[in-house]
Amino acid sequence: MLTKIAVFVSGGGTNLQALIDAQRDGIIKNGEIALVLSSNPDAYALTRAVNAGIDTAVVSRKAYKDIAEFEKKVCERLEEYEIDMIVLAGFMTILSENFVKKYDKRIINVHPSLIPAFCGKDYYGLRVHEAALGRGVKVTGATVHYVNEIADGGEIIMQKTVKVLKDETPESLQARVMKNAEWVILPRSCELVAKEIRKSKKGDK
Ligand code: GRF
Repeated sequence: MLTKIAVFVSGGGTNLQALIDAQRDGIIKNGEIALVLSSNPDAYALTRAVNAGIDTAVVSRKAYKDIAEFEKKVCERLEEYEIDMIVLAGFMTILSENFVKKYDKRIINVHPSLIPAFCGKDYYGLRVHEAALGRGVKVTGATVHYVNEIADGGEIIMQKTVKVLKDETPESLQARVMKNAEWVILPRSCELVAKEIRKSKKGDK
């Protein structure tokens, strides 16, 4: 049985698109994207999922008074689809310790810097690249890591570097980090972890 993957999104979904393309191209072969779950009903990522024929679910963060209620709804969806593994791809909600412990070593995230630089709860979106340029780094990149109870604190799975060019802006750096690092290492890491989980599932039987 392939590892059943849920991709969690909140926005444009270019990383989701990289995962969909990687599945089509056989880069992801030990897992299948069974569900795309969005915390934002207007996320364009949902359209990408529909176009690829993947089931979607919307669990709006705003609709729930606290994280526990929100996660309860999320878990219901995951159980319905018998999800084994979660990929956070631009998901804008920090999951609780309770939730991440339930899926220990089965949730991965992509972050647009070389962790431990420019990471943690205040570093997301363009802010990461503004901080990197502000510090004057010459090399940045992206990291895929397991998710634990510390924001961007879980074990590192893969990293890829990107050189900072002359006259770089946060926007230009963000675009190149996505194209040259995030979209490359997220699908590869996804396959790696899906393979591990698949092996352990076989071992259970
Ligand atoms: C990416 O930069 C990712 O690293 C970060 O959020 C952004 C999501 O972009 N966590 P997209 O929705 O995949 O286009």
